[in-house]
Amino acid sequence: MTAIVLALPGNDALAGALARELAWPLGSLASRHFPDGETYLRIESDCAERSVALVCTLDRPDEKVLPLLFAADALRELGATRVGLVAPYLAYMRQDRRFQRGEAVTSRSFARIISSHFDWLATIDPHLHRLRGLDEIYSIPARVVHATPALGTWVAENIERPLLVGPDSESAQWVADVAARAAAPYLVLEKLRHGDREVEVSVPHLEQYRDRTVVIVDDIISSARTMAAAVAHIRAAEMSPPFCLGVHAVFASDAQRTLETAGAGLVVTTDSIPHGSNRIPIAGLLAPAVLSLAMDEVSAKRVD
Ligand code: R5P
Repeated sequence: MTAIVLALPGNDALAGALARELAWPLGSLASRHFPDGETYLRIESDCAERSVALVCTLDRPDEKVLPLLFAADALRELGATRVGLVAPYLAYMRQDRRFQRGEAVTSRSFARIISSHFDWLATIDPHLHRLRGLDEIYSIPARVVHATPALGTWVAENIERPLLVGPDSESAQWVADVAARAAAPYLVLEKLRHGDREVEVSVPHLEQYRDRTVVIVDDIISSARTMAAAVAHIRAAEMSPPFCLGVHAVFASDAQRTLETAGAGLVVTTDSIPHGSNRIPIAGLLAPAVLSLAMDEVSAKRVD
């Protein structure tokens, strides 16, 4: 079976890098909006009898998902044998429980929608709040790739005497891993979230680390309130502007300014979401997962 990579609009750079890593052709997909706002979409490459990896990172998902589903559907009609989704950032991982009567559990609903249109899913460090794994909500083979090896390498190659800092207990898993790969010490702060944009973190004991360069590591920089709260404490301890290292550069609304105002140093992210802070490529990490999912006939059968 032959395979091909296709990019949804805005994903050309990552799709190109992934195609090069896999030595697969990069196909062409054209899309535009009709005057009334509806989507026009055309698969310009021959995908019949091919296994297709559709690349679409899913920040700002509401505007991306309908064209994505149209593309998956069109590919099946055009004879693609398998259609997989490469979503370096996976959306709708937040609301995984019904906290109040009547709430939509969007994590589950979104997983059902994606599972019914794709044969497999590959993603980078999804935010598994209360879930043990994606298989709790996705019914297709879903492979999670970790960015920590790339983050650790970046820290080791670029920062002298680093101190890795995680802004909350959830970050402990990847901060510890990045620190180990960079052969550096690490601290994890305590976070109290008072709402979508109100975040407080505990004051760390930093005295013994004054000769170190602080690198705050988190999986997502969204409103940047979490990162900013950690930055503010580092600055209050009269340490140099810390590096801010994130996997997913969501950067909602005024996030950039929030970080600058808090006194952050250089902000560095992976290219899972295109952003000016991208310095760490992840196509090489994704490629082995995509290869095995796209080519594995037996384990990747559709479940719907
Ligand atoms: C939450 O626990 C995550 O690990 C991140 O800390 C969080 O998503 C960051 O969000 P924000 O940038 O909005 O503070």
